[in-house]
Amino acid sequence: MKQVKIIITNQKGGVGKSTIASNLAGYFSAHHHKKISFIDFDRQASGATLIKKIHDPNIGVYKKELFFKQGSNWSLMEARQALNTYSVGVDIVIADLTWTFGLPYDFLLDFDLIIVPSSDTSLEVASTEIFVLEYIQKNMDKLRLINQAVVVVPSRIDPSQSEIPKFSGLDFLTNCSVSPPIYRIPGIDRYYEEGFLCTSADPVIAENFLNLGNFIYEKLESLSTLFVPIKKITPNLLTKHPINRTASKIIEQPKTLVSTRVNQTQPKSQASPSKEFSFIPKFLRRGKE
Ligand SMILES: Nc1ncnc2c1ncn2[C@@H]1O[C@H](COP(=O)(O)OP(=O)(O)O)[C@@H](O)[C@H]1O
Ligand SMILES: [Mg+2]
Repeated sequence: MKQVKIIITNQKGGVGKSTIASNLAGYFSAHHHKKISFIDFDRQASGATLIKKIHDPNIGVYKKELFFKQGSNWSLMEARQALNTYSVGVDIVIADLTWTFGLPYDFLLDFDLIIVPSSDTSLEVASTEIFVLEYIQKNMDKLRLINQAVVVVPSRIDPSQSEIPKFSGLDFLTNCSVSPPIYRIPGIDRYYEEGFLCTSADPVIAENFLNLGNFIYEKLESLSTLFVPIKKITPNLLTKHPINRTASKIIEQPKTLVSTRVNQTQPKSQASPSKEFSFIPKFLRRGKE
Protein backbone atom coordinates (compact mmCIF):
# COMPACT_ATOMS: atom_id res chain seq x y z
CA MET A 1 0.00 0.00 0.00
CA LYS A 2 1.36 3.45 -0.86
CA GLN A 3 1.57 6.07 1.87
CA VAL A 4 -1.89 7.14 2.93
CA LYS A 5 -3.05 10.24 4.73
CA ILE A 6 -6.16 10.09 6.89
CA ILE A 7 -7.87 12.95 8.71
CA ILE A 8 -10.39 12.45 11.49
CA THR A 9 -12.50 15.54 11.73
CA ASN A 10 -15.87 17.02 12.58
CA GLN A 11 -16.98 20.43 13.83
CA LYS A 12 -18.23 19.00 17.12
CA GLY A 13 -16.12 18.32 20.21
CA GLY A 14 -16.70 15.22 22.32
CA VAL A 15 -17.94 12.94 19.53
CA GLY A 16 -15.00 10.55 19.73
CA LYS A 17 -12.59 11.96 17.13
CA SER A 18 -9.48 11.57 19.27
CA THR A 19 -10.63 8.16 20.54
CA ILE A 20 -11.15 6.91 16.99
CA ALA A 21 -8.01 8.59 15.61
CA SER A 22 -5.67 7.24 18.30
CA ASN A 23 -7.13 3.75 18.27
CA LEU A 24 -6.95 3.64 14.49
CA ALA A 25 -3.23 4.41 14.80
CA GLY A 26 -3.04 1.54 17.30
CA TYR A 27 -4.89 -0.75 14.90
CA PHE A 28 -2.50 -0.05 12.00
CA SER A 29 0.47 -0.61 14.27
CA ALA A 30 -0.76 -3.75 16.04
CA HIS A 31 -2.45 -5.52 13.13
CA HIS A 32 -0.53 -4.31 10.06
CA HIS A 33 2.87 -3.35 11.55
CA LYS A 34 2.74 0.03 9.86
CA LYS A 35 4.84 3.04 10.73
CA ILE A 36 2.55 5.91 11.62
CA SER A 37 2.71 9.65 12.19
CA PHE A 38 -0.05 10.96 14.40
CA ILE A 39 -0.54 14.72 14.06
CA ASP A 40 -2.73 16.34 16.68
CA PHE A 41 -4.02 19.72 15.51
CA ASP A 42 -6.18 20.29 18.58
CA ARG A 43 -5.21 22.52 21.46
CA GLN A 44 -6.33 19.88 23.99
CA ALA A 45 -4.26 17.25 22.14
CA SER A 46 -6.11 14.40 23.85
CA GLY A 47 -5.33 11.98 21.00
CA ALA A 48 -1.60 12.68 21.33
CA THR A 49 -1.76 12.34 25.12
CA LEU A 50 -3.51 9.01 24.84
CA ILE A 51 -1.01 7.54 22.38
CA LYS A 52 1.96 8.78 24.39
CA LYS A 53 0.63 6.89 27.43
CA ILE A 54 0.72 3.65 25.46
CA HIS A 55 4.31 4.06 24.16
CA ASP A 56 4.03 2.40 20.78
CA PRO A 57 7.37 2.68 18.94
CA ASN A 58 5.59 2.46 15.57
CA ILE A 59 3.68 5.68 16.20
CA GLY A 60 5.36 9.10 16.11
CA VAL A 61 3.26 11.70 17.88
CA TYR A 62 3.33 15.37 16.87
CA LYS A 63 1.34 18.37 18.04
CA LYS A 64 0.58 21.37 15.90
CA GLU A 65 -1.81 23.95 17.25
CA LEU A 66 -3.28 26.15 14.54
CA PHE A 67 -3.81 29.89 14.89
CA PHE A 68 -6.36 31.62 12.76
CA LYS A 69 -6.01 35.09 11.30
CA GLN A 70 -9.09 36.49 9.67
CA GLY A 71 -8.84 36.86 5.92
CA SER A 72 -5.51 35.06 5.75
CA ASN A 73 -4.39 31.64 4.61
CA TRP A 74 -1.86 31.43 7.40
CA SER A 75 -3.51 28.49 9.18
CA LEU A 76 -3.75 26.52 5.93
CA MET A 77 -0.06 27.08 5.25
CA GLU A 78 0.87 26.04 8.76
CA ALA A 79 -1.33 22.95 8.63
CA ARG A 80 0.09 21.91 5.26
CA GLN A 81 3.64 22.46 6.40
CA ALA A 82 3.09 20.24 9.45
CA LEU A 83 1.45 17.58 7.30
CA ASN A 84 4.36 17.54 4.86
CA THR A 85 7.03 17.58 7.55
CA TYR A 86 5.57 14.75 9.59
CA SER A 87 4.66 12.59 6.58
CA VAL A 88 8.27 11.79 5.77
CA GLY A 89 9.27 8.15 6.11
CA VAL A 90 6.00 6.68 7.36
CA ASP A 91 3.33 4.39 5.88
CA ILE A 92 0.30 6.13 7.32
CA VAL A 93 -0.37 9.68 8.51
CA ILE A 94 -3.29 10.22 10.86
CA ALA A 95 -4.42 13.77 11.61
CA ASP A 96 -6.82 14.61 14.43
CA LEU A 97 -8.55 17.95 14.00
CA THR A 98 -11.70 19.61 15.29
CA TRP A 99 -12.92 21.24 12.11
CA THR A 100 -13.16 24.98 12.12
CA PHE A 101 -14.35 27.22 9.35
CA GLY A 102 -11.25 29.35 9.98
CA LEU A 103 -9.48 26.69 7.92
CA PRO A 104 -10.29 26.47 4.20
CA TYR A 105 -11.79 23.18 2.97
CA ASP A 106 -8.71 22.94 0.74
CA PHE A 107 -6.84 21.30 3.60
CA LEU A 108 -9.15 18.27 3.42
CA LEU A 109 -8.12 17.74 -0.20
CA ASP A 110 -4.63 16.77 1.00
CA PHE A 111 -5.93 13.49 2.44
CA ASP A 112 -6.79 10.13 0.91
CA LEU A 113 -9.48 9.47 3.47
CA ILE A 114 -11.66 11.76 5.56
CA ILE A 115 -13.21 10.12 8.62
CA VAL A 116 -16.12 11.96 10.18
CA PRO A 117 -17.23 10.58 13.56
CA SER A 118 -20.79 11.49 14.44
CA SER A 119 -23.14 10.71 17.29
CA ASP A 120 -26.66 9.54 16.50
CA THR A 121 -28.75 12.50 17.62
CA SER A 122 -30.84 13.77 14.74
CA LEU A 123 -29.24 17.20 15.05
CA GLU A 124 -25.77 15.77 14.75
CA VAL A 125 -26.66 13.40 11.92
CA ALA A 126 -27.98 16.42 10.01
CA SER A 127 -24.95 18.55 10.79
CA THR A 128 -22.58 15.76 9.70
CA GLU A 129 -24.47 15.37 6.43
CA ILE A 130 -24.34 19.10 5.80
CA PHE A 131 -20.61 19.21 6.55
CA VAL A 132 -19.87 16.42 4.05
CA LEU A 133 -22.22 17.75 1.38
CA GLU A 134 -20.89 21.27 1.67
CA TYR A 135 -17.29 20.09 1.41
CA ILE A 136 -18.11 18.08 -1.70
CA GLN A 137 -20.18 20.82 -3.27
CA LYS A 138 -17.46 23.41 -2.80
CA ASN A 139 -14.72 21.15 -4.17
CA MET A 140 -16.39 19.26 -7.01
CA ASP A 141 -13.82 20.23 -9.61
CA LYS A 142 -10.84 19.45 -7.42
CA LEU A 143 -12.34 16.14 -6.24
CA ARG A 144 -12.36 14.93 -9.84
CA LEU A 145 -8.59 15.04 -9.84
CA ILE A 146 -7.93 13.11 -6.65
CA ASN A 147 -8.75 9.71 -5.31
CA GLN A 148 -10.46 10.39 -2.00
CA ALA A 149 -13.13 8.76 0.16
CA VAL A 150 -15.22 9.97 3.07
CA VAL A 151 -16.25 7.58 5.84
CA VAL A 152 -18.79 8.57 8.47
CA VAL A 153 -18.31 6.67 11.74
CA PRO A 154 -21.36 6.43 14.03
CA SER A 155 -19.70 7.01 17.40
CA ARG A 156 -20.62 6.43 21.06
CA ILE A 157 -23.68 4.45 20.01
CA ASP A 158 -25.74 2.78 22.72
CA PRO A 159 -25.21 -1.00 22.22
CA SER A 160 -28.81 -1.76 23.18
CA GLN A 161 -30.05 0.47 20.38
CA SER A 162 -31.57 -1.47 17.49
CA GLU A 163 -31.22 1.24 14.84
CA ILE A 164 -27.77 2.50 13.89
CA PRO A 165 -27.96 5.91 12.19
CA LYS A 166 -27.86 5.54 8.41
CA PHE A 167 -26.88 9.02 7.19
CA SER A 168 -29.24 8.48 4.27
CA GLY A 169 -28.69 12.07 3.10
CA LEU A 170 -25.29 10.86 1.85
CA ASP A 171 -26.57 7.63 0.25
CA PHE A 172 -26.19 8.88 -3.29
CA LEU A 173 -22.49 9.70 -3.03
CA THR A 174 -20.18 7.02 -4.44
CA ASN A 175 -17.16 8.26 -2.51
CA CYS A 176 -18.94 8.28 0.86
CA SER A 177 -19.80 5.36 3.14
CA VAL A 178 -20.86 4.66 6.71
CA SER A 179 -18.63 2.37 8.78
CA PRO A 180 -19.64 -0.11 11.49
CA PRO A 181 -20.48 1.86 14.66
CA ILE A 182 -18.26 2.41 17.67
CA TYR A 183 -20.31 1.65 20.75
CA ARG A 184 -20.46 3.62 23.97
CA ILE A 185 -18.04 2.04 26.43
CA PRO A 186 -18.69 2.93 30.08
CA GLY A 187 -15.43 3.84 31.86
CA ILE A 188 -13.52 3.76 28.58
CA ASP A 189 -10.35 5.28 30.10
CA ARG A 190 -9.51 2.27 32.25
CA TYR A 191 -9.17 0.04 29.19
CA TYR A 192 -6.19 2.06 27.93
CA GLU A 193 -4.10 0.62 30.74
CA GLU A 194 -3.86 -2.54 28.63
CA GLY A 195 -3.03 -0.71 25.38
CA PHE A 196 -5.13 0.25 22.38
CA LEU A 197 -8.74 -0.83 22.35
CA CYS A 198 -8.43 -3.15 19.34
CA THR A 199 -6.11 -5.30 21.46
CA SER A 200 -8.23 -5.06 24.62
CA ALA A 201 -8.63 -8.16 26.78
CA ASP A 202 -12.37 -7.46 26.63
CA PRO A 203 -13.37 -9.30 23.43
CA VAL A 204 -16.40 -7.11 22.77
CA ILE A 205 -14.35 -3.91 22.86
CA ALA A 206 -11.51 -5.45 20.86
CA GLU A 207 -13.91 -6.70 18.19
CA ASN A 208 -15.66 -3.35 17.97
CA PHE A 209 -12.44 -1.44 17.21
CA LEU A 210 -11.11 -4.23 15.03
CA ASN A 211 -14.24 -4.09 12.90
CA LEU A 212 -13.77 -0.38 12.36
CA GLY A 213 -10.06 -0.81 11.61
CA ASN A 214 -10.76 -3.56 9.07
CA PHE A 215 -13.42 -1.46 7.39
CA ILE A 216 -11.01 1.47 7.07
CA TYR A 217 -8.20 -0.78 5.85
CA GLU A 218 -10.40 -2.27 3.13
CA LYS A 219 -11.53 1.21 2.14
CA LEU A 220 -7.92 2.30 1.71
CA GLU A 221 -7.15 -0.75 -0.39
CA SER A 222 -10.17 -0.16 -2.59
CA LEU A 223 -9.21 3.48 -3.14
CA SER A 224 -6.30 2.51 -5.32
CA THR A 225 -8.41 0.26 -7.55
CA LEU A 226 -11.83 1.90 -7.70
CA PHE A 227 -10.92 5.12 -9.44
CA VAL A 228 -8.33 6.23 -11.95
CA PRO A 229 -7.74 9.87 -11.11
CA ILE A 230 -7.78 11.96 -14.26
CA LYS A 231 -4.25 13.23 -13.73
CA LYS A 232 -2.94 9.65 -13.97
CA ILE A 233 -4.74 8.68 -17.19
CA THR A 234 -2.49 7.10 -19.81
CA PRO A 235 -2.23 8.63 -23.29
CA ASN A 236 -4.36 5.78 -24.68
CA LEU A 237 -7.22 6.49 -22.36
CA LEU A 238 -6.97 10.15 -23.16
CA THR A 239 -7.36 9.35 -26.83
CA LYS A 240 -10.50 7.41 -26.06
CA HIS A 241 -11.89 10.42 -24.25
CA PRO A 242 -10.49 13.33 -26.27
CA ILE A 243 -12.42 15.75 -24.14
CA ASN A 244 -10.15 14.91 -21.20
CA ARG A 245 -6.86 15.77 -22.83
CA THR A 246 -5.43 17.87 -20.07
CA ALA A 247 -6.33 18.43 -16.46
CA SER A 248 -6.45 22.18 -17.01
CA LYS A 249 -8.97 21.74 -19.79
CA ILE A 250 -11.08 19.64 -17.46
CA ILE A 251 -11.16 22.35 -14.87
CA GLU A 252 -12.25 24.83 -17.53
CA GLN A 253 -15.01 22.53 -18.80
CA PRO A 254 -16.31 20.55 -15.83
CA LYS A 255 -19.71 19.88 -17.38
CA THR A 256 -18.30 17.89 -20.27
CA LEU A 257 -16.37 15.42 -18.12
CA VAL A 258 -16.51 11.72 -18.82
CA SER A 259 -16.40 9.42 -15.81
CA THR A 260 -13.08 7.60 -15.44
CA ARG A 261 -14.20 4.84 -13.09
CA VAL A 262 -12.33 1.65 -13.83
CA ASN A 263 -15.16 -0.65 -12.93
CA GLN A 264 -17.55 0.36 -15.67
CA THR A 265 -19.71 -2.69 -15.01
CA GLN A 266 -21.19 -1.13 -11.90
CA PRO A 267 -24.40 0.45 -13.12
CA LYS A 268 -24.96 2.32 -9.82
CA SER A 269 -22.44 5.02 -10.69
CA GLN A 270 -24.04 5.70 -14.06
CA ALA A 271 -27.49 6.54 -12.76
CA SER A 272 -29.34 9.73 -13.57
CA PRO A 273 -28.84 12.81 -11.41
CA SER A 274 -30.70 13.13 -8.15
CA LYS A 275 -33.09 16.07 -8.39
CA GLU A 276 -32.70 16.81 -4.72
CA PHE A 277 -28.91 17.23 -4.86
CA SER A 278 -28.38 18.15 -8.47
CA PHE A 279 -25.30 20.20 -7.62
CA ILE A 280 -23.34 16.98 -7.02
CA PRO A 281 -21.55 15.83 -10.18
CA LYS A 282 -22.38 12.50 -11.77
CA PHE A 283 -19.03 10.88 -10.95
CA LEU A 284 -19.71 11.22 -7.23
CA ARG A 285 -23.30 10.07 -7.36
CA ARG A 286 -24.60 6.66 -6.50
CA GLY A 287 -27.47 5.38 -8.62
CA LYS A 288 -30.90 4.60 -7.24
CA GLU A 289 -31.01 1.19 -5.56
N1 LIG B 1 -17.05 5.04 22.39
C1 LIG B 1 -16.96 5.74 23.51
N2 LIG B 1 -17.58 5.30 24.63
C2 LIG B 1 -17.48 5.99 25.80
N3 LIG B 1 -16.81 7.13 25.94
C3 LIG B 1 -16.19 7.64 24.86
C4 LIG B 1 -16.24 6.97 23.59
N4 LIG B 1 -15.53 7.70 22.70
C5 LIG B 1 -15.07 8.76 23.38
N5 LIG B 1 -15.45 8.73 24.67
C6 LIG B 1 -15.15 9.70 25.70
O1 LIG B 1 -15.75 10.95 25.36
C7 LIG B 1 -14.88 12.03 25.60
C8 LIG B 1 -14.63 12.76 24.29
O2 LIG B 1 -14.02 11.85 23.41
P1 LIG B 1 -12.91 12.34 22.36
O3 LIG B 1 -12.48 11.14 21.62
O4 LIG B 1 -11.87 13.14 23.06
O5 LIG B 1 -13.80 13.28 21.44
P2 LIG B 1 -13.37 14.48 20.49
O6 LIG B 1 -11.97 14.26 20.07
O7 LIG B 1 -14.35 14.41 19.37
O8 LIG B 1 -13.54 15.74 21.28
C9 LIG B 1 -13.62 11.43 26.23
O9 LIG B 1 -13.72 11.51 27.62
C10 LIG B 1 -13.64 9.99 25.78
O10 LIG B 1 -12.98 9.14 26.67
MG1 LIG C 1 -10.25 15.49 20.29
